[in-house]
Amino acid sequence: SSVPILTIDGPSGSGKGTISRLVAEKLGWRLLDSGALYRAVGYAAGMEGLDLSDAEAVTRCAQTTKIRFQAATDGSDTRVLVNGHDATDELRTETAGAAASAIASIPSVRQALVEMQLGFRKAPGLVADGRDMGTVIFPDAPFKVFLTASAAERAKRRYKQLKEKGLSVTLATLQREIEARDARDASRTVAPLKPAADAVFIDTTGMGIDIVVAKVLAVAQS
Ligand code: C5P
Repeated sequence: SSVPILTIDGPSGSGKGTISRLVAEKLGWRLLDSGALYRAVGYAAGMEGLDLSDAEAVTRCAQTTKIRFQAATDGSDTRVLVNGHDATDELRTETAGAAASAIASIPSVRQALVEMQLGFRKAPGLVADGRDMGTVIFPDAPFKVFLTASAAERAKRRYKQLKEKGLSVTLATLQREIEARDARDASRTVAPLKPAADAVFIDTTGMGIDIVVAKVLAVAQS
């Protein structure tokens, strides 16, 4: 396909979500939040009372769960509908993140989500946010970025986000959870979190959002 793609991969808290959204807006391209797909499957599996390590059951869940993104017309956040239920707020919690990370290590679950992700590639272009966008899902993407930041900084950003949403967490717990999730994402055998060989690596520690957006836009316009 000749539809241009900009992949933005990296660990949680690297700023990927915010940066991807802003860059997609600037370019006028679509956005794929692939993490939301894994979160939605983890959430649906939890709702069904499935054991998250039961590969067969969770794979069936991934194949049958209906996930829809509903863009808001008033500029507010895109809603994520899971089997018709607006699960946007539940999907943002650390519990949902941990469930996503657990089910994301099952190869057949990842396989079940491939086609849906490929379907996002539509004109005029796509910004794909995730862990394996540039390595596995869109290896032929012409523009690839790998965003990271120190674990301490990522924990701080996450802490601020969750606080603003009124969720009660401690920074220390958050940093521990983030490090555990990173370790699991980086060490899994299927689609481990690692930069594509042809990705532009950007360490955003201490960088403001505007600067990161400018750097990423420059990649897509190179
Ligand atoms: O990016 P986000 O924090 O929403 O992702 C939640 C979890 O989903 C990650 O920790 C990772 O385990 C998994 N994930 C993945 N591949 C992707 C996106 C997310 O394995 N492309």
